[in-house]
Amino acid sequence: MAGEAAEPAPPSLAELQELGDRFEAVVAALPDRAAWEALRVLWVGRNRGALRGYLDAIKRVPGAERRAYGEAVNRLKARVESGLAAAAERLDSAPTAAGEVDVTLPGRRAERGALHPITLVQREVETIFAELGYSVAEGPEIEDDFHNFAALNFPADHPARDTQDTLFLEDGRLLRTHTSPVQIRTMLERRPPIRIICPGRVYRHDNDLRHSPMFHQVEGLAVAEGITVGHLKGTLLAFVQRLFSADTGVRLRPSHFPFTEPSAEVDITCPFCHGRGCAVCSGSGWMEITGSGMVDPRVLRGCGIDPEIYSGFAFGLGLDRVAMIRYGIPNIRLLFENDERLLRQFVWAGSC
Ligand code: PHE
Repeated sequence: MAGEAAEPAPPSLAELQELGDRFEAVVAALPDRAAWEALRVLWVGRNRGALRGYLDAIKRVPGAERRAYGEAVNRLKARVESGLAAAAERLDSAPTAAGEVDVTLPGRRAERGALHPITLVQREVETIFAELGYSVAEGPEIEDDFHNFAALNFPADHPARDTQDTLFLEDGRLLRTHTSPVQIRTMLERRPPIRIICPGRVYRHDNDLRHSPMFHQVEGLAVAEGITVGHLKGTLLAFVQRLFSADTGVRLRPSHFPFTEPSAEVDITCPFCHGRGCAVCSGSGWMEITGSGMVDPRVLRGCGIDPEIYSGFAFGLGLDRVAMIRYGIPNIRLLFENDERLLRQFVWAGSC
């Protein structure tokens, strides 16, 4: 076509850079929206905008230089677009006329966030145990059979090792079913005296009103010379009396865990009726909150700790359950639906 020969030569790279500099100086000084609109049409107007011309020119640039030219045009395009957007924002938020501020407009209030009830409870538990001399230990959520089961004395045919109960990955590793593997990792690395709590997410094949496939635990471990069941009970009593109320009682019921001997379920007097019996505790006056026990000598020995010298206790608490009791939340799923209306209802309810 005859017209094509008349196309102007594309600008050089240096010119493109300078065009961008000039554009930025102009856009920064725009006085109002009308001037902004005129500049916009000039640069990015659909038919005759300057950028369109530079972009169209890409195909006329000789092959070897085309790439560098295309990149320079795209840089210019980005500068123009962000310059126009920034100027629009500046002009729209500026006072209506120079020096005039409408003082009658309501202020813009910042939305306040809120912490999740589980975070609140976890911090409370951490604070209480920190005061008792415990530190916080953490570990991976993807574990191997050794740390999650074998080192904790689970026999090879224990049902927890079944896919019915545990979520396995394709490579044979698994999502930890409790935070006890963190205790193993700690005992393999450190020598007694050890006093740790291990908060974190854990996973099991479970899903109903009171169970979710992912939930939160805080497990505790104390290992030193001469640790007895008395220390276990005293520690749990001090803990629940801080967490719930000073009149909370504790009772240990015989139970079984592969990694503790003897083992016990821990009940507390119902925080709602203080032990008198109500609908929440089915009239019994007691509520189960944690499993516990004296660390099995085989577990200690497996971690290189001599059970003839040292002994220890451990316990495992469901944080979600504590949050539900603490805040009267009836359904565990409410905790994980991310409905902000739930989050806004709770504030730090702790005594600490
Ligand atoms: N690991 C146990 C569980 O997840 C809890 C527990 C921990 C029990 C420590 C006893 C001692 O159910």
